[in-house]
Amino acid sequence: MSIKIAIQEKIFIIVVAITAIIFITYLSYANYYFDYKIFLAFSFLTFLAENFYIKLPHRGSSVSVSSTITISSLIIFGPLIGATTALFNAIVWRDIKDRTPTYWWLFNGSQGSLSAGVAGLVYIQFGRLLHGSEGFVRSDFPSMLLPIFLVALTFFIVNTSLVSITISLAESISPIAIWRANTVWAIPNYFSLMPLALAFAQIYMSTGMIGLVLMFIPLLVARQTFQVYGKLKNTYMETVKALVVALEAKDPYTKGHSERVSQLSEKIGRLLKLGEEDLEKLRYAGVLHDIGKIGTAKYILRKPGKLSEEEYSRVKRHPETGALILREIKLLENVIPAVFHHHEQYDGSGYADGFSGEEIPLLARILSVADSYDAMTSPRPYRPAMTNELASQELLSCSGTQFDPKIVEIFVDSLKIDYGSGNKHGGTEQLQLDEFVEVKNSIS
Ligand SMILES: [Fe+2]
Ligand SMILES: [Fe+2]
Repeated sequence: MSIKIAIQEKIFIIVVAITAIIFITYLSYANYYFDYKIFLAFSFLTFLAENFYIKLPHRGSSVSVSSTITISSLIIFGPLIGATTALFNAIVWRDIKDRTPTYWWLFNGSQGSLSAGVAGLVYIQFGRLLHGSEGFVRSDFPSMLLPIFLVALTFFIVNTSLVSITISLAESISPIAIWRANTVWAIPNYFSLMPLALAFAQIYMSTGMIGLVLMFIPLLVARQTFQVYGKLKNTYMETVKALVVALEAKDPYTKGHSERVSQLSEKIGRLLKLGEEDLEKLRYAGVLHDIGKIGTAKYILRKPGKLSEEEYSRVKRHPETGALILREIKLLENVIPAVFHHHEQYDGSGYADGFSGEEIPLLARILSVADSYDAMTSPRPYRPAMTNELASQELLSCSGTQFDPKIVEIFVDSLKIDYGSGNKHGGTEQLQLDEFVEVKNSIS
């Protein structure tokens, strides 16, 4: 595998690596605590933790407790042990397997080391300032919370800034945009690991290395459980995809639409600051919202012209059929309300139940906006895709009647940022029949 690394990225990585070397040299000349046995023991734990990472079921990302080990090491022993053991964050078996470029190894090691070293210095300085001593672990419980929070914050800021700058150099995008997109969602997860760092430190202080190694056993069991859960989730997602493939085979107009509605719905969910659980429901519900069309006759789905009254009433059954299908899949039961109500309208004139306003489940109101936007911005046999601007205007003109005004407002505002003006949505697929019916009043 050959991965191209931009020249400016290489230069930045070399600068970061040289800074890390100078920094570690400074720490050792400044006589910060260092002991080879401790260094080796904590490096080994860091290496173990980084390699027994947990794959998250989506985003293709993973979580490990290696930074937690690093932070606990710097809490106990100070910046030099922290900065040197953090180098072992870079040694990951999967990188050897994937033949990750040397530059990335160099970067991961250096940035981990700088993050830990700077956090360690903040910790020590803060200790001097508050207590006239250099550590907090031996002090009372509440008084160590603030410095530990500062350590976590410093580590997080240095780590994510360096990573964002590197990605921005490779992709020529603003580092702030990269930082927002890649790190903001991880903040709660990251800070939730801090009590664990504190626990590691306390266990080491009271029981030594043996206690810390024993601490790893429940973590490995938890990891195993999580992996099984992750695999189960993937299996469900595959089931979902198989269902969508079946629908796409029957109705070519659906191709790509389900996936885009899923992405748009998740985006709206994030704008509304919904929790991860709801975002996951939105992803599934988006992909599956039209799954009930499997039960609609092919000739109706493929009919290019206007539908008869009878045909339209059959299309209108798809939310109900979708709910029936999903009832059979245990893990997808919780997306049924969103799927069942995705054609409700805010003024109560939609289907399947004729619900109105807040009576319509929030996720269904979100799906409805995403669904219609994708329908409008996808080309149809008799008209090209509408521009983002025009589709936004349509959404606004149906705000309060067809759509939840709050959702339209926040979504249209975000589109202004994403597209500027006049651009088309990335959709290239055909409009679906029901979306045609849905937006027919607002499209000339
Ligand atoms: Fe639909
Ligand atoms: Fe749809």
